[in-house]
Amino acid sequence: MKRAATNLLALGSTAYAYTASTAGTKSGCYWNTEAGSFNTRFGHDFSVDLYGTVQDLIPNTYTVNAGLNPLARRFDIVNIGLDPFDLSLTLTVPGGQTTGPISVAQLETDYSDILYASVRTVAKISNVPGTTNAFIFYANDTQEVDFAFLTSDISKAWLTNEQTSYGSPYSTYNVAAPSDANTAWHEYRLDWLPGASKFYIDGVLVQTITDNVPTTPGAWIWNNWSNGNAWTQGPPLADSVLKIRSIDAYFNRTSVAASISSNPNSCPAVAASSSSSSVAPSSTSVSSSSSSVVSSSSVKSSSSSSSSSLATSTTTSSSSSSIVAANTAPATVSFTTITTAWTGTYTATSTAISGLAATVYVQTPAKKGQVISTSSTAKASYTTVTTHSGTASTIGYVTATPKAAGATTTVTVVYPTPVTTCGNQGINFAAYTNKYSGGQSTYGYPSFIPETYKKVTPYFSDDTTYIAESNDQWGDWINVYGYYPVDGTSLVLDHTFYLFASQTGYYSLNIPYTDDIQFVWVGDKAVTGWTRANADITQFWSSQIATQTPQTLAYYLTVGTYLPIRVLWANGGGQGDLRFNLYAPDGSTVLSSNAGQNSGVSSVDVVQYPCNTALGAKFPTWGKET
Ligand SMILES: *[C@@H]1O[C@H](CO)[C@@H](O)[C@H](O)[C@H]1NC(C)=O
Ligand SMILES: *[C@@H]1O[C@H](CO)[C@@H](O)[C@H](O)[C@H]1NC(C)=O
Ligand SMILES: *[C@@H]1O[C@H](CO)[C@@H](O)[C@H](O)[C@H]1NC(C)=O
Repeated sequence: MKRAATNLLALGSTAYAYTASTAGTKSGCYWNTEAGSFNTRFGHDFSVDLYGTVQDLIPNTYTVNAGLNPLARRFDIVNIGLDPFDLSLTLTVPGGQTTGPISVAQLETDYSDILYASVRTVAKISNVPGTTNAFIFYANDTQEVDFAFLTSDISKAWLTNEQTSYGSPYSTYNVAAPSDANTAWHEYRLDWLPGASKFYIDGVLVQTITDNVPTTPGAWIWNNWSNGNAWTQGPPLADSVLKIRSIDAYFNRTSVAASISSNPNSCPAVAASSSSSSVAPSSTSVSSSSSSVVSSSSVKSSSSSSSSSLATSTTTSSSSSSIVAANTAPATVSFTTITTAWTGTYTATSTAISGLAATVYVQTPAKKGQVISTSSTAKASYTTVTTHSGTASTIGYVTATPKAAGATTTVTVVYPTPVTTCGNQGINFAAYTNKYSGGQSTYGYPSFIPETYKKVTPYFSDDTTYIAESNDQWGDWINVYGYYPVDGTSLVLDHTFYLFASQTGYYSLNIPYTDDIQFVWVGDKAVTGWTRANADITQFWSSQIATQTPQTLAYYLTVGTYLPIRVLWANGGGQGDLRFNLYAPDGSTVLSSNAGQNSGVSSVDVVQYPCNTALGAKFPTWGKET
């Protein structure tokens, strides 16, 4: 969520003039407001940042049965939009609907642990009869506070604490609404506090209700709906649109309160550990100086004296871990901890394999075309030029010895490529609707069971040359590998492919960030037998993780072998983000996602299956997996 300066509106402009409540100020773990202090601020100003991402706000997509009402209503994402001329978010009930379910619109916080709040919504209310426009706290039908308008008569606002039990006194009131509520922006504020619900219009208290005040945590909802009953008098004949210019909300969330009390000295409060941060630092990792560190060795071994200046001294610490070699059972390999300075580029990754904590340092002698200094005294430097060849069957090198200290020379490395004569290039993918939408609000998304999709016929499937997806606006219809429009808020994408090892050394699989959850399986179980429990990498989004720790695994592969890999990602609501990167031992890119976009790159070493099936079995058909 971008924390827009909600009150920095164009106050000087008559068209947008309204009186806003004073914004809260941050102090330690809390936002202090005139309604009290709160541990969470949520909101967005569409007039300042129309297209920006609004995290933690999800479009509802369910149907409410008619029950005793004339018509059912269904919340549809297509009724949520942005108005670029009247800078605002729009919730629309399309006009002219006569049969149920009536297509309506609703947004809700992505969490339902709000216990007291001060929520300020700047809006224009629809005057097209037949819907309600409402800003609501909702836990259940007896724990609910409404700030509502009936679009059939917007001269009044309806203010309610719903009865907490049968026989409780009714507590619904109405007050005069601004006379220009449909054409001018006004701030509608609801403070739900212990013992009282207080309602404000343009910063002026218009009603306090002390009966039936909810005491149960719940969610905040913004909606525009109709079910044809006597109350809403709909459905509307013409489009009825609620426009929201900004939301500035202060919440006490119970999960945040718990994390503050368990860690009172660390604010901002929402800084919980990610799945990997609990991994111990590198001290336990070990050994085998020689084999392990990646590509520098291959260059070194072939390129005479110049390469020796690359040497880094490695200190071993110890313990080995099992790692999967291409197409085979796990083999034992070692991690190396480098204790002296490496002057080239490298990646350092904390990881855990088979229960062992380790830091993997992957040294990159040079990226394609990059010149690096190989030591502090700059004895020699060189450029690595990587070439993929369809004809080479082994790695070849062309090395020129540097002419003098400090001189630059070139090492050309020629790598073999996989056989592609059977039309096997690319990655297979299948798209499914997420059966577990909504569950991502719970830390770790425990309700998501990836293996369920083994027996589900995909919504669509095809092949792609990269792995990436992003829907950065809730309510977004997105393009998925050329298929459009796809609802990105409730989506599962499963990808299978083989990596051909064109080099010997550590290949690194990396998820820099995910939203909501992503699994990677490597080796035979990626083909059959994969489950949530045996995933090699699990990365997930949580509101409790302030900054995700990138997840990386390195696999030692021998040139010419194939390694099966499965990457399954799911979005359960709101914003979604899928990224997956794969780097060769020399640091070159095998697969890379363009962050925030539906695009990416891949090398020729990614295939759907080996043409020679003795080198690796085809993945099962989608929907018939095991
Ligand atoms: C929110 O929680 C904090 C910490 O428990 C408390 O001090 C504060 O009074 C609460 N705010 C409201 C409005 O109840
Ligand atoms: C609403 O929630 C409260 C508190 O958890 C509970 O006591 C009550 O029975 C619930 N009411 C309904 C209608 O579910
Ligand atoms: C609610 O939805 C209706 C139907 O689309 C729309 O006409 C109306 O403008 C919406 N209300 C507001 C305030 O936007």
